[in-house]
Amino acid sequence: MNALARASKQALQTAARGFASGAYPDRKVAVLGAAGGIGQPLSLLMKLSPYVSELALYDIAGTPGVAADVSHINSKAAVKGYAGEDQLGEALKGADVVIIPAGVPRKPGMTRDDLFKINAGIVKALVEACGKHCPKALLNIISNPVNSTVPIAAETLKRLGVYDEKRVLGVTTLDVVRAKTFYAEKAGLDVSKVDVPVVGGHAGVTILPLFSQAVPGANKLSDADIDALTAVPGANKLSDADIDALTKRTQDGGTEVVQAKAGKGSATLSMAYAGALFADACLRGLNGDPDVVECTYVASNITEVPFFSSKVKLGKNGVEQVYGLGELNDYEKAGLKAMMPELRASIEKGISFAKESQ
Ligand code: NAI
Repeated sequence: MNALARASKQALQTAARGFASGAYPDRKVAVLGAAGGIGQPLSLLMKLSPYVSELALYDIAGTPGVAADVSHINSKAAVKGYAGEDQLGEALKGADVVIIPAGVPRKPGMTRDDLFKINAGIVKALVEACGKHCPKALLNIISNPVNSTVPIAAETLKRLGVYDEKRVLGVTTLDVVRAKTFYAEKAGLDVSKVDVPVVGGHAGVTILPLFSQAVPGANKLSDADIDALTAVPGANKLSDADIDALTKRTQDGGTEVVQAKAGKGSATLSMAYAGALFADACLRGLNGDPDVVECTYVASNITEVPFFSSKVKLGKNGVEQVYGLGELNDYEKAGLKAMMPELRASIEKGISFAKESQ
């Protein structure tokens, strides 16, 4: 299936949320940090997912209320709340997918790396519990800095002897969601038909949208093609300056929200949407859907660093194939080179933390 057809299929699947009741296999999903700004709307969206039969909502406090509230929605998933560390094992037992948005969010002036001190320990402890109670689950790691928390998760599971690189996935879907939205808006394209791969990591310059590979490609199509494909007649063709501005806006999308919320946290609603899209994709892969491709930050050998986000095929065991980057233009090649020092440092920081805090 080509990228355009895939983007349309994904949009249809999202629209069907809450209404579909297809015969999918039973699947348990656990959300760790379920009472938080992301955790609550994400729990709501997973309750509406046709792919979930059991939903375990865990946090250090507040989950009985969230679970009672969400459980009244008349959709398939049975919901249970778990609060406090002594209930964590029960929340995780039998989970197919564990989504982790636990930890502190950014305030204005903070980088994602400023969160490291607090979130590194939280992620390590939660992943340790996953390694003990649901070692085969696919982990969807949302907690920042993702560039470091994914390597922390990998090291933690290695130490427990249960690491499977196919099952540890950093959630970068919000970068893709933003790139699609900003690109479609600027190019005058129908956003439901747009796909933009975003590669690298999940912080500042490590986020690299590949607009040269966008579908539909506003720079590659004739005006007639664009008119046929778009909701807005006479869609724009984008200049190099437009692409540079779109790249920077995608890289700074998180900061745009942090500043607008003025001290009240970072993206929660759009992140919950992106997290639900990604978790659904993991579940569809587990269920044997043959055509599930998403960008995600995983163990990778397609570049010089050991963790990298690129398009990945998701299947019955998690990551089935990590795709290469395809052809990059000079602007993207420069972006790839520029991100490497920061990405490598964040990865090493995560690995050192996990090793030193054994
Ligand atoms: P929040 O502060 O509103 O919620 C975090 C929740 O985690 C709270 O309910 C808290 O009680 C819980 N928590 C803390 N320690 C825990 C532990 N040991 N076990 C279980 N739960 C624990 O924060 P928000 O806005 O929901 O953000 C959560 C994380 O997601 C942050 O690290 C943020 O930077 C990250 N994030 C990631 C994005 C991405 O694209 N990957 C986008 C936006 C935010």
